[in-house]
Order: sequence, then C-alpha cells, then structure tokens
Amino acid sequence: MRNLLLVFSLILFSPLVVTSFSPSLNDDVLGLIVFKADVKDPGGKLSSWNEDDNTPCKWYGVKCNPRSNRVSDLVLDGCGLSGKLGRGLLRLQFLRKLSLARNNLTGILSFNLAQLPNIRVLDLSDNGFSGLIPSDFFSQCGPLRSVSLAHNKFSGMIPESLSSCSMLASLNFSGNQFSGVLASGLWSFPGLRSLDLSDNMLEGKIPKLIEGLNNLRALNLRKNQFTGEIPQEIGYCLLLRFIDLSENSLSGWLPSTMQNLALCSSLVLRKNGFVGEVPNWIGEMRSLETLDLSANRFSGEFPDLIGKLQLLKILNVSNNALTGSLPEPMGISLNLLVFDISHNYLTGNFPSWIFNHGFEQVLLSDNKLSGSIDIAIDDSSLGNSRKKLLILDVSQNKLSGVIPSSVGDFSNLNFLNMASNSFRGSIPADILQLKTLGVLDLSENQLNGSIPSEIGGAISLKELRLERNFLGGNIPSTIKDCSSLMVLSLAHNAITGSIPASLAKLSYLQIVDFSFNKLTGTLPKQLANLVRLQSFNISENQLQGELPAGGFFNTIAPSSISGNPSLCGAAVHKSCPTVLPKPLVLNPNSTDDAPGISPQSFHHGKKILSISALIAISAAAAIVIGVVAITVLNFRVRSSTSNSAVALTFSGGNEFSHSPTGDGDSGKLVMFSGDPNFSTGTQALLNKDCELGRGGFGTVYRTLLRDGRSVAIKKLTASSLVKSQDDFEREIKKLGRLRHDNLVALDGYYWTPSLQLLIYEFVSGGNLYKHLHETCAGNSLSWNERFNIILGAAKGLAYLHLKNTIHYNLKSSNILIDSSGEPKVADYGLARLLPMLDRYILSSKIQSALGYMAPEFACKTVKITEKCDVYGFGVLVLEIVTGKRPVEYMDDDVVVLCDMVRGALEEGRVEECVDSRLERAFPMDETIPVMKLGLICTSQVPSNRPDMAEVVNILELIRCPSESQDESNF
Ligand SMILES: *[C@@H]1O[C@H](CO)[C@@H](O)[C@H](O)[C@H]1NC(C)=O
Ligand SMILES: *[C@@H]1O[C@H](CO)[C@@H](O)[C@H](O)[C@H]1NC(C)=O
Ligand SMILES: *[C@@H]1O[C@H](CO)[C@@H](O)[C@H](O)[C@H]1NC(C)=O
Repeated sequence: MRNLLLVFSLILFSPLVVTSFSPSLNDDVLGLIVFKADVKDPGGKLSSWNEDDNTPCKWYGVKCNPRSNRVSDLVLDGCGLSGKLGRGLLRLQFLRKLSLARNNLTGILSFNLAQLPNIRVLDLSDNGFSGLIPSDFFSQCGPLRSVSLAHNKFSGMIPESLSSCSMLASLNFSGNQFSGVLASGLWSFPGLRSLDLSDNMLEGKIPKLIEGLNNLRALNLRKNQFTGEIPQEIGYCLLLRFIDLSENSLSGWLPSTMQNLALCSSLVLRKNGFVGEVPNWIGEMRSLETLDLSANRFSGEFPDLIGKLQLLKILNVSNNALTGSLPEPMGISLNLLVFDISHNYLTGNFPSWIFNHGFEQVLLSDNKLSGSIDIAIDDSSLGNSRKKLLILDVSQNKLSGVIPSSVGDFSNLNFLNMASNSFRGSIPADILQLKTLGVLDLSENQLNGSIPSEIGGAISLKELRLERNFLGGNIPSTIKDCSSLMVLSLAHNAITGSIPASLAKLSYLQIVDFSFNKLTGTLPKQLANLVRLQSFNISENQLQGELPAGGFFNTIAPSSISGNPSLCGAAVHKSCPTVLPKPLVLNPNSTDDAPGISPQSFHHGKKILSISALIAISAAAAIVIGVVAITVLNFRVRSSTSNSAVALTFSGGNEFSHSPTGDGDSGKLVMFSGDPNFSTGTQALLNKDCELGRGGFGTVYRTLLRDGRSVAIKKLTASSLVKSQDDFEREIKKLGRLRHDNLVALDGYYWTPSLQLLIYEFVSGGNLYKHLHETCAGNSLSWNERFNIILGAAKGLAYLHLKNTIHYNLKSSNILIDSSGEPKVADYGLARLLPMLDRYILSSKIQSALGYMAPEFACKTVKITEKCDVYGFGVLVLEIVTGKRPVEYMDDDVVVLCDMVRGALEEGRVEECVDSRLERAFPMDETIPVMKLGLICTSQVPSNRPDMAEVVNILELIRCPSESQDESNF
C-alpha cells in the first residue's frame, strides 16, 4: 500500500511520468486513493475505497456518470474527515459536484477551479479551512452554479475573479472572516438566487449594482460592518423573499422602492441606525410574515401595520423612539404570534385587544402606557386563544388598577412581568396556580395584602419577584412546593413572621432577598443545606439568634445581614449567648481505614491506627446552663404534681384512663403487659426520695407495683420536645415491642399533655458508670465481669439495630447491671420522640455526655446512621477496659480517652492503659484485641466502623481464641 501510494504521488507530481503511464490505470481511482491517503478517516467511512478496484463507482460517497463511467459526484458530508485537501481530487476531471460539508478539514485552498473544469457544485461549508482564497480561484468557473464556503476561517477580500462565475445561482460565504469592500463587479450575476455573506467583517456601502441581481430571492448581509443607506435598487429585485440586513451600521430612511417587494416574507433590519417614521408603505408588503425593525432610531407614530399585513407572524419594533398611542387595528392578522413594541415612548391606554387574538408573546415593556388592564370576561371563543399566551411583559409603564385575576386564564403562561407600574390591591391567587409559570415579576407596584398560600401551586416557578410593594403577612410555608425556585425576592415590603424552615427544601435557590421587611425569629439552621445559594440578603429585619452554620453562611457578606440587632454568630462578630457545644471537628483527611475487621487483625496486632482528630471541647458553661434548665423544669412539674396528687388507679383491662384529682388534666395509662398489679398506692411516685437518676430525657424514679415488684418511672423533662399524643403513642408502642435480655424493657407509659411518664423494668444493680467510676479499688469489676458487660451491651445494641432502632444516647450511665451482673441497655430510641431528628438537640441536650458523640454529629453533610451508636460503643469499651471517663478534665488539660489509647497503642505501651484496679489480673490476649476493637469502633469515618452484629462475632472470637484456634486446626 505504502509503495503504491509513493508511486501515485510521483505520478501526480511529475507530469512526465504521467504522460508515459498507461492510460489503462483509471485516473479516478488514482485521484481518490491519493485523496484518501491525505485525510484522516477515524470513522472508517472510506474503507470501501480499495485501490485494487477497476472502477470507484461503487465506493462510498462516489457517483459516476453512467455513460462515461467517470466520477461525477463526490459527497462526503459529515464523515468526520480531518486533515488537508490534497491534490488527488484534481485528477477527477469529470467531477461536477464536490461536497465535503461538516468535516474537520483544514488548511488553505491551494488549487483553482480551472483544474476542475466541470465543477458545478462546490460545498466546503462547516470545516476548518483558512487563509486567503487565491485571487485566481474563480477565474475559470464557467459552469459553477453553487458555491458554499460558509462556516470556515477564510479571511481577506472576496476575490474579484468571482465575477467570472456568470452562471452562479447560490453563493454562501457566511461565517468567515472576509473583510474589505465588496468590488462592484461582484454584483452582476443574473442568475443568482441566494446570496449569503452574513457574519463576516465586510464594510463599505451595499453596491448599487444590486439591480443586476434580478433573480435574487434571499439576501443575507447580517452581522457585517456595512454603512450608508440601503440602495433603492433593492426594490428592483422583485423576487426577493428574504432580506436580512441586521447588525450592520446602515442608516438613513428606508427606500420607498421596497414597497414593490410584494413577495417578501421576511424583512429583518434589527440593530442598525435607520431613522424616520416607520413608513406606511410597509403595509403594502403583503407577504410579510416577519417584520423586525427593532433597535434602530425610528420615530413618530406607529402605523397600523397589523391591520394590513394579514400574514404577519412576528412584529418587532422594540427599542426605537416611537411615540403616540397604538392604533386600534382594523382587523388583526390571525397569524400574529409575537407582538413586541417594548422600549419606545408609546402612550395611551393599555391595548386590551391584544388578549383576544391568540398571541404567544406580548411585550409592551418600558413605554408610557396607562390605565388599567381590562381583560374581557372569558367566553369560550376566547378561551382557546388565551391558552396560547406564553409571554406577557407589561413592565415599566404607568399602568394602574388591580391585577385582574383573569390573568389566571392564560393557562400556558410561562413569563409574566408586570413590574414597575402602579398596580394596587392584592396578588390574585389565580395567577399563582399557573402550573407553567416560570417567571413572575410583580415588583415595584403598590400591592398589599399577603402572599397567597396558593403560591405552592406555581410548581414551575423559577423566579419570583415581589420586592418593593406593600405586602404584609407571613411568608407562606407552601412556598416549599415551588420546587424549581431559583430567585426569590421579597425585599422592601412589610412581611412579618419568621422565615419558614421549609424554605430549605428549595434546593435550586440561588438568590434570596428578604431585606427591608419585618421578619422575626431565628434563621432555620436547615438553610445551610442550600448548596446553590449565591446571595441571601436578610438585612434590615428583626431576626435574632445564631446564623445557620456551614455552607453559604460561612462566607455570607456582612451587608446581607446588617440591620438585625439581635443576630449573633461569627459573621456579625457577636458571640451568641449560649454557645452550642461542638465537641468534635472532623478532619476530612484522616482516614483510619479499618477494612480488615477479622479476628486475625486483632490477634496479630499489626493494625496501625493513627488518627489526629481535632477535638474541641465546648465550654463547661453550656453544661451548667443545661443543668439549671432541667432543675427548673423539675421544680415546676413537682410542685404541680404534688398538688394534684396523681392517683392512678387501675380499672382492669389492657388500657385504662384516669383523671388525676385536682387539676383538669386527664391522663392515660397504658401497660403493655396488661399487668393488673400497677397501682399508685405509690405516693412515692415522683417523690424525690425515690429518685434513681437523671438523664438527657428526664428524671427516673423507682416505685412499687401492688405485687411488690419495682418499676422505674422516667418522667420526660422537656415536654416541648415531645410530639403529639398520637405520635408519642405510636413511637412508644414501637419501643415497647423491643424485648431482649440485654435491654431494659419498656412496660408502659402514662400520658397527659403536660406530663409524660415511661414505665420501665426496674434493674437493681445500678448503672455501669457507678460501677466504673464511683467504687473503690477493692470493689471494682473483674475482667470477666467487664468482658460480660461489653458483650452483653453489644448484643443489646445489635438487637436494637436489627429492629431499625438507633440508640442515640449510649453512655455508661445508660448501661444498667442486674443482680446477676448482666448488662441491660437503657434509654434507647428516645430521640424518636423529638418532633424531628435534630442534630442540635441530639448533640446539645441528649448527648450531653461528651466524648460518646460520633463526629458526624458535628458535620452536617454526613447522614446519622446506627454507626453513631457503634462509635459510642467503642468509647464505652475503652471506658470499661481503662476505667477512665471518655473525657477527663485535668488541671490545665483535657484528655480524650480514645486518643490516649490510640497513642499508647502506637507507642507499644497499651497495657499501661488497662484499669490499674484490675491489678494485672487480665489476659493480654483478650484485653488488647478488645481495645483495638474499641478503637476501630471509634473510627472517624462511619463506614469504617463495623456493625454491631460483627462486633458481637468478633467479641465471641476474642473470648475463646484457643477454641477457634483448635477448630481451625481440626
Ligand atoms: C472536529 O475535531 C474536533 C477536535 O479536533 C472534535 O471535537 C470534533 O468532534 C470534530 N468534528 C467532527 C465533525 O468530526
Ligand atoms: C449558508 O451556509 C450556512 C452553513 O451551512 C447555513 O446555515 C445557511 O443557511 C446558508 N445560507 C443560505 C442562504 O442558505
Ligand atoms: C486536607 O488535604 C488537602 C490536600 O491535601 C489540604 O488542602 C487541606 O487543607 C487538608 N485539610 C485539613 C483540614 O487538613
């Protein structure tokens, strides 16, 4: 192949050889193979081109003249060819049509048409050809009918030799960089039907000889730098149908000869400098479908063209200096779709007739129209035409009156702009139910009332602007249903109430402006989840409390929040009165990948765990405040209950109700077991003397059932956190169904709106915290007891997770020990009673025991899963093994347990961490793997933590390493 090509190339470039070569070798095959060798053909389109064929007539893209059997057409449009156009094609002496449009061919044109003596159609459009066209390129182009060089990078002058192409019917040089003045000789092509020189850099006047083009149907000179007037000779091109002279620097009056162009359907003169009145004679151009005179300097009154041009579809006279009032048309084209008179100086009453003719776009913005919008009562004949309206822009006029609710009849409206007028009254709810509405701008009017809650029906709304009105009321929470909303501006109104948290559901929001209103309350923290926010202006309101943390709000501009004296947080340089505890800051770079959670990895101790978690412990102040609050709450409840002397008596059956004597609260007691022995001969109920302890969710008391059995009663403290009675009961019943040896059973509950009690199994042995931290050395737990507690707690948690319940509040004071030393997990799942799962409440109120809290609580982007319990369990394991609290406050230091153990492990002195009260009475082959397990459970990344079922398996393997060893040996 290579050699053959070499021969071909030699042939082509040395005429001597050619002449001596046998004429039996087909010139066309030769030429095409050389062409193929010069281009890249990644799509393999030319694979059928085989140099061994005698004739190329069956090759892809090739057509031959049936008589001469020579190639007449080569059409390779859109074949993905790249590279340069070699000289091979010049062998195709009988070629009539060469079309290589939409490829990636590059380079300059290095031949001329004299070398293709039969060429009639040449289409090189949409390629990457560049450079000048050789001046003699067209000098012998007798038969050429159609040439397109459109959309390449040709530059320089259009060669004068083009005037030799006397048969030319179509010339398309659009989209290149041709420059200079058009030579007048170019303008006498009697057969030319289509001339497209658009999108170049041509300059000078449009030559007068345009009259030589009397077959011209389409003239496109758009986007050049032509100057001067339109030559009046244009009016002699009687066949013209399409004229586009837009985006030049043409000036002067329109020549009146143009009224002869009775076939012209499109006249586009946009963006020039034409002056004078819009001539009345345009009304004589009866075929006009598109008339675009926009962005010129036309002045004077606007003639009634719509009444005359019955085929008109698009009328655009925007951006001129038209004055006077709009003529009431004599009869409107039924075809008219677009009516744009915006940005003029038109006066008079609002042209209400525009609503009755099925227009799609009505643009009247920025004129001086006055009066009110009057939409005739919808009758069925108009109903259909109203469905067509897509765009209505009446902004920046002097319109007044109310916004008619019949605007809501335009059921396909997509864009409605009525801004900057003097509309009064309220926003009609009907507008807001337009399901297709994408933009609604009613800003800068005198609207009052509140934002209708029907706004939630505007499901396609992307932009809602109501700023600078007199709107009051609240922001309706239904706004959350406008799920496409990107821009929301309510600034400069008198809107009250708080910012609804549901706003955070509008995940496309980019720009929000609530400035200069009367908003109160705190900013919903969830707003930090709006990841697309670019601007959130709440300045000049009465908002208070802390700004949401994270996301956009970390970098919010001070000007966006100014003028709210009670806002606090870093962004306003004012610390908030109660700083939330933010105990852990997750370092996203720390990866303690713990993939190999197999017993081996614990036994061989090769695991290297190195984490440097940045830990910041909140000020003790927060804890003090919490304690005070709980005490106050307690006091209040106690004083009210002692008056009412809660006397619960059992009336048989599964559930019973009873009104406590005294106050009117009627309570409901439910015992899951249907236990008939519950009695309140228990004056002890809620008696301080029987208090067992206090936790994040409430205080626990002990009381006796009638049969002498003890139960633990938990009085929920923060009743405001509790959901409605229905929700409360549903959640409690779910918890009541959980039964496991290592869980403290929930036996029942008591409900009144102001007092909720949970009735639990009583566990006699106290909690693990006391056993670990409040006993003296002699009494401390043995290693076996500790291991049992770890394993039992793990089983209890694994069961909870199996039942899809997250504990949320694991800590040693929530592990109770029964009389036989078995651990029972208490206080599980109570976070479900919160109105919603709220990290703030969970982390600050419930998980107030620092050190057990998984780092993801501090990191809003991480979902809280049951792996947060695994973290707490890991801390618990380390606490049990070391006998140290998760966080110990030293004189001037804070020691975090897992860091300490991790450090010790890395330095190989982990035994030193084991509780000294064990006095070295522990098997190292259990303690060390257990500590490693604890560390892995405290991985920063939730997915790196094992799940509780795995933990149970691992613990069982650790307990009897020798047995598992034995098994594997047999
Ligand atoms: C042309 O080439 C460019 C990159 O060189 C490529 O992205 C494009 O798809 C090509 N076009 C055609 C029609 O092959
Ligand atoms: C000129 O060629 C371009 C690119 O192929 C095309 O878009 C345009 O419609 C052509 N002009 C005329 C008048 O046919
Ligand atoms: C995490 O690593 C990246 C790149 O290595 C670094 O730019 C960034 O500051 C690190 N972040 C932290 C919190 O260390």
